[in-house]
Amino acid sequence: LSLVVLISGGGSNLRALLEASEDAEFPARVVAIGADRDADGLALGEEFGIPTFTVPYSSFPDRDAWGDELLAQIQQWQPDLVVLSGLMRLVPSRVVEALSPHLINTHPAYLPEFPGAHGVRDALAAGATQTGASLIVVDNGVDAGPIIAQERIPVLPGDTETTLHDRIKPVERRLLVQAVLDIANGHVDLKELSNA
Ligand code: GRF
Repeated sequence: LSLVVLISGGGSNLRALLEASEDAEFPARVVAIGADRDADGLALGEEFGIPTFTVPYSSFPDRDAWGDELLAQIQQWQPDLVVLSGLMRLVPSRVVEALSPHLINTHPAYLPEFPGAHGVRDALAAGATQTGASLIVVDNGVDAGPIIAQERIPVLPGDTETTLHDRIKPVERRLLVQAVLDIANGHVDLKELSNA
């Protein structure tokens, strides 16, 4: 299974996929890493010898123009699956349409709770005693697509956004690696999920 992974940040989830794919048995390979900015995680391309591309959001007149270029870059690699892993942008609907259902996203909350760009902060602000990590098939909503996998994570007294996010990320990584495995070996059928 060939993957393109899109990031905006440090790419800790991406690193987990790269490390998993170092195992010859792992049935997926990251063929390219893309970002919407000069993301720190692009350095992983150097470290693991994987091509990277950057489509700087700020270089485009609007979201659709950015999306068109992003899609063109992705399609060069003909991936079987595109993984949004810390991409902090809403993907335009025509990009979702072009890639669906082979487009999945990791989110640091127990969807449908706390969707959007600040799921960790929102859970804390709401005084939640538990939150979670979720993996979904991307649709035209915001973190509203069919859930592939998710897991509850406790919020502990004194948690900050950082301490809570640091507890969530390892779970996200585990769910993501497992989901890629399940998709590659047919245990998870994205078409079925997205038509359900
Ligand atoms: C992850 O928690 C992801 O779910 C969220 O942003 C974080 C990105 O972390 N959208 P990293 O860049 O993978 O370290």
